[in-house]
Amino acid sequence: MTKVLRTISELRAWRNGLPAGARLGLVPTMGALHAGHISLMELARTHCDMVIASIFVNPLQFGPQEDLARYPRPIEKDIAMLEAAGVDALFLPEHTEVYPPDNSTYVVEEAVSLPLCGALRPGHFRGVATVVLKLFNLTQPHFAFFGQKDAQQCAVIERMVRDLNVPVEIVRGAIVREEDGLAMSSRNVYLEPVQRLIAPLLYQSLLAASAAYEAGERDAGKLEAIGRAVLADEPGINVQYWEVRDRRSLAPLQAVGADGCLIALAAYLGKTRLIDNIALGT
Ligand code: PAF
Repeated sequence: MTKVLRTISELRAWRNGLPAGARLGLVPTMGALHAGHISLMELARTHCDMVIASIFVNPLQFGPQEDLARYPRPIEKDIAMLEAAGVDALFLPEHTEVYPPDNSTYVVEEAVSLPLCGALRPGHFRGVATVVLKLFNLTQPHFAFFGQKDAQQCAVIERMVRDLNVPVEIVRGAIVREEDGLAMSSRNVYLEPVQRLIAPLLYQSLLAASAAYEAGERDAGKLEAIGRAVLADEPGINVQYWEVRDRRSLAPLQAVGADGCLIALAAYLGKTRLIDNIALGT
């Protein structure tokens, strides 16, 4: 049975009641759970004695023109999925429980949060880092689990944990894909049927670059041209970025070296913004 904890005092009481020495894993989410989230819960199970998930649609990480209001919130279904996954507890706070009305303290990472999504979604990673640090402080987990689909988010959180000496180990879970290759995302439900049909092209563009890399191509510009060419003839896909980057620092690369690279993309299909990525040379 997943214990639903709605307040900080309920969460603290639950945390304090855990057996001494029990390793606790946290899986922070914004709900609208899918198989990608459940794979993180299962990964947490393999590392930890107890697993807590959180569901909080964090307004601080949404821009004024973004989808905060329409973000899906199927809470009964989410709780049933957490129960089925054997998650021990769910932190499900209201907004006021997380942010006091006069909240004035934020966490700002100033390097890996700047390019890619950071450049296009000002304030997004400030919102993510702030709420994630709060969740770490509240739950005091030994491990925390984040999906590799949000590779830049993982990099920002890892940097924050290192820089602020937060006593938690970050574990990245592999991207979970639909049968046709589309990366699972809570935002996939927004896609209209025709958009859903073309959405797998995003992953195909990454696979095209991956195949060229496997065939020996190391020039970042050429890999980018190969990947972008897959999307070029599809007017329904509006690419925001498609870039070859250093895996940890997210700095641009001219050529892929011994450390491999991350290829990351963001694109609009209609009003729905999707991201995806692939790590090469791992
Ligand atoms: O990846 C998400 O769902 C969110 O960005 C997170 C980590 C739960 C913070 O709100």
